Amino acid sequence: MSEHVTVALRGREHSYEILVGQNLLEKSGSWVKSVVSGVGKVVIISNELVFSLYGETVCASLTAARIESRVWKMGDGESFKSLETTEAALRFFSENKLSRSDAVIALGGGVVGDLTGFAAAVYLRGVPFLQIPTTLLSMIDSSVGGKTGVNSSFGKNLIGAFHQPSGVMIDVQTLKTLDSRELTAGFCEAVKHGAISGVDLFNKTSEFLKAYSVADFAAQYQRQEFAEELQRFVSSQVAFKAAIVRNDEFEDITRRDAKSRKILNFGHTVGHALEKVTDYRHFKHGEAVGLGMLAAAEISKKVANFSQNELSLLNAVVSLTEIHSDCKGIDAESVVEAFVFDKKNIASSLQWVLLEAIGKPRIVSGEEISREVVFEAISTVLARR
Ligand code: NAD
Ligand code: GLY
Repeated sequence: MSEHVTVALRGREHSYEILVGQNLLEKSGSWVKSVVSGVGKVVIISNELVFSLYGETVCASLTAARIESRVWKMGDGESFKSLETTEAALRFFSENKLSRSDAVIALGGGVVGDLTGFAAAVYLRGVPFLQIPTTLLSMIDSSVGGKTGVNSSFGKNLIGAFHQPSGVMIDVQTLKTLDSRELTAGFCEAVKHGAISGVDLFNKTSEFLKAYSVADFAAQYQRQEFAEELQRFVSSQVAFKAAIVRNDEFEDITRRDAKSRKILNFGHTVGHALEKVTDYRHFKHGEAVGLGMLAAAEISKKVANFSQNELSLLNAVVSLTEIHSDCKGIDAESVVEAFVFDKKNIASSLQWVLLEAIGKPRIVSGEEISREVVFEAISTVLARR
């Protein structure tokens, strides 16, 4: 049995379904027909690795449903999430006479999903697109919510558009082939959702991680109940993300409340800085966010009354993700410098997502937190690793 999460966007007629289940890829054809009525042809964007694993199943199902499909493979990795790749994808759309009654499918992780969504947003000012996420991070986070975009020489994810998918299909069986560090990165984002959502999702995440070791994830599929539990776990994560998006689709910059989309940035201030000082090579994004959450939690203890007990609990649950934690050679000063790059402006524009308690995020202006508090928090996290 698959589970459905509906993203009904506030104030808009548009809503879409996120399907979470097992062995869904073989039903891709009927799914596409059900979410894009009267669909003509589809272009699938994937990469060599993911397509070699799952492309044939998706294409066979589309053919059986009499949907014409074309495949375009992009390079694998963050460096291919670029304007250059987007242009090549758009050229492929044009050469294949893709029209607004056709659709584009992203088959892959967040890199493929973000780029495909962006290409679909700008081609003919918007064609329908669908997401088939195949990493844990893309299942529970990037495929839901319509943030699409690419990187550039002036920063990550600074060029983009909000373009909601017409549907998302999550087949948890695809996680069987995912590398364990990629799983860890996804679980770090799952812990983040738990920490900002509430005790219920936090405990569910912690229980799941206690029950199933990330290191031998693929082997767990031999237990019948595992895939079902994984499906329920992914569903509850998706439901949380969907609820945030429903309520603040465009991340309203004036909002600072505990339900605004901004709270999803918990762990990202220090996380991005850690990625930057290590040239985006040392940590997976999710891992950097994992450590960034711990730094934000240390700051929360000082300025938002976050308790020592909950801080220890958060540390313990982040460790359960089997996070790659070697921070040797990273000094706290350079991490602070990486986000306090403009001392005049940044303090007033920087907004920290802190915790008053598990499930009680608070958005705090950078001006309210001293550099010493930030430095100490980062030093504490780095020293422990
Ligand atoms: P990714 O897309 O680079 O995938 C990680 C690796 O796993 C790749 O090498 C990929 O080929 C491989 N892979 C994918 N599925 C596989 C499978 N089933 N089996 C084996 N290998 C598989 O990384 P990601 O973590 O999925 O996504 C990261 C991207 O997501 C970043 O660019 C980030 O900015 C973006 N992101 C976007 C949002 C959003 O809201 N749009 C949110 C969070 C992150
Ligand atoms: N991943 C952050 C967001 O979707 O808003």
